[in-house]
Amino acid sequence: MSGPPDRGLTEVTLCEDGPMLVRGPVCVEDEDGQRHVSSRPVTAVCRCGASSLKPWCDGSHKLLATGGPRARRLDRA
Ligand code: FES
Repeated sequence: MSGPPDRGLTEVTLCEDGPMLVRGPVCVEDEDGQRHVSSRPVTAVCRCGASSLKPWCDGSHKLLATGGPRARRLDRA
């Protein structure tokens, strides 16, 4: 990020071919409507779809042979 974060805003960092890092507590609602809560200082949310711990990143994105997160590939289509 460039510069200090604004107070009260949630910081999100998109990692190239990797997860979305969310700073601070987060609640993620999955496609089935199930809510997942993390109170970790930094939470890695899977963007590639390969994690076995969805919605959290488990590092599986590193094993993908080509391309990156599905959303990123779709952006290029
Ligand atoms: S982004 Fe890391 S496992 Fe999907």
